[in-house]
Amino acid sequence: MDLKIKEEARRLQKELTFHSRQYHVLDDPLISDHEYDMMLRRLKEIETLFPELSVEDSPTKRIGAPPLESFESAPHTLPMLSLDNAFSDQDITDFHNRILKNLETKKVLYTVEPKLDGVAVELRYEEGILVRATTRGDGFRGEVITDNVRTIRSVPLRLDRDKKNPPALIEVRGEVIIFEKDFQALNRQRLEKGESLFANPRNAAAGSLRQLDSKITAKRPLAMFAYGLGQVQGMDFNTQAEFLETLEAFGFRVNPHIRKGISLKEALVFYGRLQEMRPDLDYEIDGMVIKVDRIDMQRALGEKIKSPRWAIAYKFPATQETSTINDIRVQVGRTGTLTPVAELAPVRVGGVTVSRATLHNEDEIIRKDIRIGDRVLVVRAGDVIPKVVKVIDSARTGDEKEFCMPRFCPVCNSPVSRLPDEAAVKCINSGCPAQLKERIRHFVSKKGFDVDGLGKKLVELLVDKDLVKDFADLFSLEQSTLAALDRMGEKSAQNLVNAIRHAKRVSLNRLLFALGIDHTGENAAMLLAREFPGLPELMDADQLRLESIHGLGEKGSTAITRFFSIPENRAVIQRLLGAGVEIFNDLYRLKEDSREEQDHVFSAKTIVLTGTLETMTRDEAKTALRDLGAKVTSTVSSKTDFLIAGAKAGSKLAKAKNLNITVLEESDLIHMLAHGKRD
Ligand code: IVH
Repeated sequence: MDLKIKEEARRLQKELTFHSRQYHVLDDPLISDHEYDMMLRRLKEIETLFPELSVEDSPTKRIGAPPLESFESAPHTLPMLSLDNAFSDQDITDFHNRILKNLETKKVLYTVEPKLDGVAVELRYEEGILVRATTRGDGFRGEVITDNVRTIRSVPLRLDRDKKNPPALIEVRGEVIIFEKDFQALNRQRLEKGESLFANPRNAAAGSLRQLDSKITAKRPLAMFAYGLGQVQGMDFNTQAEFLETLEAFGFRVNPHIRKGISLKEALVFYGRLQEMRPDLDYEIDGMVIKVDRIDMQRALGEKIKSPRWAIAYKFPATQETSTINDIRVQVGRTGTLTPVAELAPVRVGGVTVSRATLHNEDEIIRKDIRIGDRVLVVRAGDVIPKVVKVIDSARTGDEKEFCMPRFCPVCNSPVSRLPDEAAVKCINSGCPAQLKERIRHFVSKKGFDVDGLGKKLVELLVDKDLVKDFADLFSLEQSTLAALDRMGEKSAQNLVNAIRHAKRVSLNRLLFALGIDHTGENAAMLLAREFPGLPELMDADQLRLESIHGLGEKGSTAITRFFSIPENRAVIQRLLGAGVEIFNDLYRLKEDSREEQDHVFSAKTIVLTGTLETMTRDEAKTALRDLGAKVTSTVSSKTDFLIAGAKAGSKLAKAKNLNITVLEESDLIHMLAHGKRD
């Protein structure tokens, strides 16, 4: 075999492993997905031609292995225990006091971690190579799922040895999860393919790990956070904190919201913080795990049959509860869509009282067979609208009533229609007051005209009293009219008038968002504003011109042309302008301003500065480069376009040379800043 091919394979394996870790473990990709895919494809080609180059830990091994007949099972060398649960600060204090007594000490420090709601696995590494992965099973024996776990990009196939030498044997435990956004995308895909949906990320992760065909697992967006230790030979840790740092050095993804070596009091404070953070996290957690930090103390405390004495789970209040559907009402949205909403017997879910939950649409009700009177499971994930997950069949009495989608709009009584390939039933009367209310609410919302103090109740009142019949009417509301409304004082009426006047000056992108054009959210509105100097140019743009806008998509461009081709919509714009709405477009101007920059050699380039500059400070150089549209970073990588090396440049210069990156001296920099090019 050609030695060159062997070298290329090794290089590709190394680089792909590096970039996969940047992406999946460190969340900091340095190359594009496309570049990665091209490299992977090349490596696959080579390994197919020369199978002897296809080493155990090659990145190509992540695509799945031939299907299994069934899973083998294997014992855990050390049992995988579960945790006792605590539900109050008192429970935790009791736990702490037991430990102090047991150890006959006065001080214990803890490491606390989010309790991830996923699937626990154990990974066995021999001489740094992943040789086996198992599920937790009954804690004593688990199923061998090595092929499946190899497909998880954040699981190292070989432990990184740059910072620390891997021990002869180490078993690392962790939680396999699916990030919320990936879960949503996965379910969307399944919906499109007519497959059944996963109830939550944990079920999806569990189901994916249980595939006999690892090629299926490979297509699932699994990730793993490492947190625990099984057997180890040839390495020792003093604390859990130190262990976690070692895991990071080996290339594992370790949760960023971990507090190391803190007191009990700090742990309790952090529990509150974690609960606040929970809605914003992109994965599900159901509590906090408190672990005694010192490993010698852990050993001294030991284990009970099913759980350790040195750790406990402080659970969050449940976000799933059961309740009863008292009724199903139908809401009419901004675009006329009828949404069935369950009226629930009020129930506390995750610390909030819930009395309504969306049922999405008719198909969803049929699929889940939801009836009025049913006992149901309700979830609330973060700040998302609560939803009904499923009916508790065993609680059926036979008195439940089936629900039928109305054939007339519950608000304006116009007939409703359902397009053949859509799930939504719509009220076809564009003058429907329910639609108008929702359109106005959207119009004045934060991302639209952002009118302070114009909430749901007030919008309803204004529409019901015929004071607002279209957007433009908002701008002619007078203080005296508003003050005469129910529950509206002189002062709040004046404040509202001021807020409306203030909102009259609006950016083009906010206006476009506010109009509520189909498929035109915040992003699309910004794309449009960047392309067109003003509204007239956009209104007259043809479909082709719109389609050429990168990122807008066909649906977006069709919706825009359709919207502006309707005379009534053009008239609304005229009325807004007539009412004194003033549109500016700072996004377009920004783009115009940067035209000049775009021609410069440094524009859009990634540049690293190193060493001492003589004629300017590092910050001055940075600012000058950034003004020209360059990205100035601090580490040299294959993504770096230029390294600017001042006096006494050291390791960065060496690395840049190694990677064949163009190195500029200070004199080159000055010349190029001024002339935009190198001689
Ligand atoms: S430590 C003996 N740390 O919770 C220590 N577990 O009820 C046991 N879990 O099966 C595990 N996040 O699936 C630990 N940061 C974390 C965890 C965690 C989630 C799960 C794990 C375990 C269960 C115990």
